Parts: sequence; structure tokens; C-alpha cells
Amino acid sequence: MNEEPVINERERLHAAQLVASGTPIPQWWFRRSAMLTFLFNASSTTVPEGERFIIRAARDAQDFTDDEGLKKRADTLMHEEAAHARMHDAYNRYLDSLGLPTEKYYKDTKRLIGFLEKRFSLMGRLAVCAMIEHFTAVFSKQVLDTGILEGEDVDERMDRIWSWHCLEEVEHRSTAFDLYLELGGGYFTRIGAAWLTSVLFAYMHTRCLFAFLASKKALWKWNTWRYGLPYVFGPRGVYHLFLTDWLRYFKPGFHPYDIPIENRFQKQLHHYHIEEELVGYFPAEPASVV
Ligand SMILES: [Fe+2]
Ligand SMILES: [Fe+2]
Repeated sequence: MNEEPVINERERLHAAQLVASGTPIPQWWFRRSAMLTFLFNASSTTVPEGERFIIRAARDAQDFTDDEGLKKRADTLMHEEAAHARMHDAYNRYLDSLGLPTEKYYKDTKRLIGFLEKRFSLMGRLAVCAMIEHFTAVFSKQVLDTGILEGEDVDERMDRIWSWHCLEEVEHRSTAFDLYLELGGGYFTRIGAAWLTSVLFAYMHTRCLFAFLASKKALWKWNTWRYGLPYVFGPRGVYHLFLTDWLRYFKPGFHPYDIPIENRFQKQLHHYHIEEELVGYFPAEPASVV
């Protein structure tokens, strides 16, 4: 077994050096591409409220199962999502300090989640959670399998942040789904919620991405699309095969473990709190843009 104390020790030390030397996170931290950088930044903006929604649904669902193993997995899910949300809150404050309209899109997501929570039964909420988790697991699989975050032209701190999040998403990818099944959830509710969640998720994320690009006057620049799109939809892009994996969810009898994870660079994860360290990557003071 790998005895590294956290994911990839060499990367941890490099990230720590960047913090110690006061090197700011570059505005275009992902291959100097506005499209790639903002795809991930927009995900960060819409993520924390979804995670808190999952925590509340998992907590409520625990009361309806006697399966001790599943209860324990629900505890792990809640713990991990709470850590993610905490780190993304810091990430989003940093985005705000760069002049991005983070607050608006964060609040829009919160309103939408609040609406779903009020209108849906616990079963409906779990079905939505199961699809959110499928989305994040499939996205995480692409990130880990293609190794798109590796390389010198990706800021090491952001690599660690997203690798950590992706690894945990892949690990706990079936917990919400299994809670849904445990409570007696069926195929048609699952599929109905899956369509709704997919449309809302894609809409919220794309809106936020376009607003971020527009706020930095990068939306209508040829280079944004020319250099960004191949990395998104090309053979090593995060959305390569995304559609195929997303579609698998609609098959009767699907289970999240049906999706194999390759993890090309064999990123490691050891379970203790590293979110504190990751939060420290973001400056407490407003960021200087480089
Ligand atoms: Fe998460
Ligand atoms: Fe998750």
C-alpha cells in the first residue's frame, strides 16, 4: 500500500511552496485557457449548495434503514460533502474577489435547490441526489482517467483541490443511489428525476460559465473556443465519453459501480481532513490577478 500521507506527496510539497512564496493562483490557472479555467470555476460556484442538499437528504434517509453498513457509508458521504462544501465556499470567495459574478450564481443555485427541497418527498430528493452524484462521478472519472489536470501548465493547488474532490466523488458514487434503493425507490421516479436534474444542472452550469466568460470579455473571443473546445470535447477532454456514461444511468438495473474507473495517474487518497490545507491555498485578502 502507498504510504504517502496525502494524495501525491510531491504535489503537496509543490503546492505548499507556492503558498509559502506568496505566488498568486493565476487568473487562467488551467493551461492558460479561459474556457477550461471557467468550466471548473463555474462548477465550484454551483457545487456547495448541491452538496448541502445531499447531506440533508442522506441524514433524513438514515432514519429509514437498519442496514448498519449503509448507515456508515451515509456518514462518510455526509462528512465528505461537508468538507467539499467548506473548501468550495473558500474557493468561491476567492472567485468573488477576482470580480466574477459568483455570488449571483451561487444564490440562484441555492434558490433552485430550496425549491426542490420544499416540493419533493424524501424519495424524490434522493432520486435527485442520485443523479447529482452520477453527474459528479462521471465528470470525476473523466478527470482522473484522462489525467487532464496533470502537467506544468495547470496550477498545482488547483490540481490537488480537484483531484481530491474527484477521488472522493468516485469513491462514494453509489451511496445516494443505494439509499434510494433501500427506501424502495423505483425505476420511473429515478429516471424522471434524472431528466429534470440533468436539464437543470446543465442549464445552471452553462449560464454561470457564459457569465464568467462575459465578465472577463472572453466570451466572444475566437481563442477562447479554439483552444478550449479540443480540451473539453477532444480525446483527452473531460467530456469525452461523458455522454455515454451519462446515458448508462437510464438503463434499467444500472448501478454506479458499473462504471469502471481507471485513474491513469494512480492518484492516492487517505482519509483524513485535508480540506483545511486546501482552504489555505486561497488568500484571505482580495487576490491579485496575474
Ligand atoms: Fe462533493
Ligand atoms: Fe458526492
